[in-house]
Amino acid sequence: MQNAIYNPYFGFSENPFNISPDPEFLYRSPQHEEALANLIYGVRSRKGFIVLTGEVGTGKTTMLECLRDYLDTMRTEFAFIFNSRLTPDQFFEMMAFDFDLDCDRKSKTDVLFALNTLLIKQAEKGRTCVLLVDEAHNLEWDVLEEIRLLGNLENRGGKLLQIILAGQPELDRKLDAPNLRQLKQRIVLRCNLNPLEPEEATGYIDTRLARAGMPDQTIFSSELLEEIYKRSRGIPRVINLICDNLLVTAFAMERKSCTVEMLDEVCQDLRLEWPGSSRDRRGRSRYGMEEDHFPDSIGARGD
Ligand SMILES: Nc1ncnc2c1ncn2[C@@H]1O[C@H](COP(=O)(O)OP(=O)(O)OP(=O)(O)O)[C@@H](O)[C@H]1O
Ligand SMILES: [Mg+2]
Repeated sequence: MQNAIYNPYFGFSENPFNISPDPEFLYRSPQHEEALANLIYGVRSRKGFIVLTGEVGTGKTTMLECLRDYLDTMRTEFAFIFNSRLTPDQFFEMMAFDFDLDCDRKSKTDVLFALNTLLIKQAEKGRTCVLLVDEAHNLEWDVLEEIRLLGNLENRGGKLLQIILAGQPELDRKLDAPNLRQLKQRIVLRCNLNPLEPEEATGYIDTRLARAGMPDQTIFSSELLEEIYKRSRGIPRVINLICDNLLVTAFAMERKSCTVEMLDEVCQDLRLEWPGSSRDRRGRSRYGMEEDHFPDSIGARGD
């Protein structure tokens, strides 16, 4: 990620409003805290299937990245599947690649055999392994079925492979389908992320600015913070987009603080919609933006 043009002007050491899911910038809202605690608890207690859902841009991938850091610290083996538009064969290949399985990764039988060996070896050391699947709402039925079967691997101490499925609310609806009854029954923990509350949105912005080097921010007044909340509808990714654009505008105008007028302009450029806004509601997208005006950065992962 390139450094923002305004960083030196405001004295930031890093971009405060990157849209990448970076745990370094984690804001511990009660629900994010709870979701992360649940994910860690689920893994530690060998619960098997865990599902994390949430609307677009609410922090699911960020939670998975935090869990990944935790697993690294615990030296727990894991595979992270972030591209969920896969055939079953591609799924096994990716999993084998991520677990670094020493086998013919194109052969499902070989992959399953090598995975089983890894799981048993880890279990002997008192460890478990984790499969993280992001964007799980996009998984094909046959891949979901393979994942369900992986959840059957267990010994007396519990499941050998902990499986975390993260996705948009469609994932819940998908798991309600009659053909996934068996998988649904195996889900022992569920967490959901909602948009932030107004005071959380303020805390979120303050935390990000503090992390970037401005502990007591004076850029956004409380009146402006209220407006940012309203217009972003409390969705972290949209808050980032708005704040980043506001900082660019302030920098261009050689101002050290932002105004509601700047916000109006930014919202217009981003074609944002929010409850009570005057824009035509036709063609509103999941971000509350018109579909053909997504900034390229939206939805991008890890950039
Ligand atoms: N608790 C949080 N602390 C800090 N930043 C957060 C938090 N939650 C979300 N974000 C930020 O919001 C943006 C979107 O988060 P993320 O990519 O994790 O959302 P998502 O739920 O995975 O979205 P999508 O449904 O599009 O995959 C990122 O910039 C991320 O850093
Ligand atoms: Mg995501």
